[in-house]
Amino acid sequence: MRVPEALVQSFKEDFEPILNDFLMNEGLLPEGESLQSKRFMTRSVAPHVKALSSLFNRTEGTQTDAIDEESYWTGSGSPKNRKLAYFLSFMPCNLFRVASVWAELNRLGFRWPFSPDQDFKGIEFGAGVASGACGIVAGERFAGIGLPASGNFALIEQNKSALDLGTKWLHHFSGQKLSVRPFHRRLNLRERWLPQAAPKFHLFVMSYFLNESGIAAEELVPSFLEAFEHHLEEEGLVIIVEPALRLQSRKLLEFRKALLAHPLVQSNRAGLRLLLPCLGHQACGALAKEDDWCHEEVSWWRPPYLRELDSMTGLDRKSLPFSYLVIQKTRKPLSEIFPGLGGPEVKRYRLVSPSHSLSKRTSEFFICGQDGKRRARIDLGILKAGSPEPDRGSILENTDLRGDPALSQIDSSEVVE
Ligand SMILES: C[S@@+](CC[C@H](N)C(=O)[O-])C[C@H]1O[C@@H](n2cnc3c(N)ncnc32)[C@H](O)[C@@H]1O
Repeated sequence: MRVPEALVQSFKEDFEPILNDFLMNEGLLPEGESLQSKRFMTRSVAPHVKALSSLFNRTEGTQTDAIDEESYWTGSGSPKNRKLAYFLSFMPCNLFRVASVWAELNRLGFRWPFSPDQDFKGIEFGAGVASGACGIVAGERFAGIGLPASGNFALIEQNKSALDLGTKWLHHFSGQKLSVRPFHRRLNLRERWLPQAAPKFHLFVMSYFLNESGIAAEELVPSFLEAFEHHLEEEGLVIIVEPALRLQSRKLLEFRKALLAHPLVQSNRAGLRLLLPCLGHQACGALAKEDDWCHEEVSWWRPPYLRELDSMTGLDRKSLPFSYLVIQKTRKPLSEIFPGLGGPEVKRYRLVSPSHSLSKRTSEFFICGQDGKRRARIDLGILKAGSPEPDRGSILENTDLRGDPALSQIDSSEVVE
């Protein structure tokens, strides 16, 4: 996925002072220089980062186990430092991931489908410290699709202390432009996601949330569709970002599959269109094999304190992998939603792996399209002069290829810029 340089750069120098001011105001840092203090970061933050990382990676148990609130936000030792560790180490990464998805919508020409004069209404489910909502703010700031500057975000979160912090952080990060409404509650994803009296929103955001439930995709889909029908405006958007780990990513792909198989979607009564990353409703190419999965990867400039923290914890967040889905409640054709793409007749694929150079001119990668997933080879010389080289996340259009899915040769193609 190509992320605009302004977004990539914005975390290099500018982010840390904003974060530092906020944490000082909240009394979460002992002094103004704490983020640069090796002693403070090694003793008070790094051990919690390591513990949280092994919890997320399910180093004990399996990757699909549910994660309970206690082990998460409280853990052992100081709950204050536990929360600080999540905030410093995981929040900025998830924020950047969500912003990158927003930037992909921008790249393909998506425009906010509601009036610019109407305040927007967004909701983040499992908001924690509001990383997802802040990601939308950052995405709009650096790769805007026309989201109005004024609006409201509802945050739903089961942990009161994380929710309180997230509410203030979103307010601070958005420059106080947004109003934020916190809802402290535990969602029952098997039943109603929102109370009947809840309003309709323009935007649903979920960041690193669904995988924590331990509920099977088939069980999640009916209740999700109920929320989609009653609480998402016509033309509204759903953005789901999940880990790139094999089993968790497959869980998202299973969710996609179960969603597309549901009678309300099959009959088009739901008016649901799956936009990204697949650009269509085809059967998932990655699910076809048991050991396969699908993820994106973005690169950024980490804030300086995070580079240091990564070297203390052995984590390396120079690039950020994740799985994602963007869904819209619409009956418009894809070519109208994404004017940056060609019409329905265009043969289109997305690169779902890195590109490996076989020689100076030849590259090989996996692509996914209407006819499933295949390994493909390209002579870069067939691309028009000045074209970007294809890499993970690139979209190829007007593609003619020959050969079978085990290895196909691309005879002609254009990389969408
Ligand atoms: C990995 S965190 C992600 C937080 C935030 N969205 C982010 O990207 O950083 C998942 C959050 O979902 C919350 N959560 C999990 N299950 C929940 C449920 N059933 N109801 C409400 N919150 C839930 C957890 O407490 C946790 O804060």
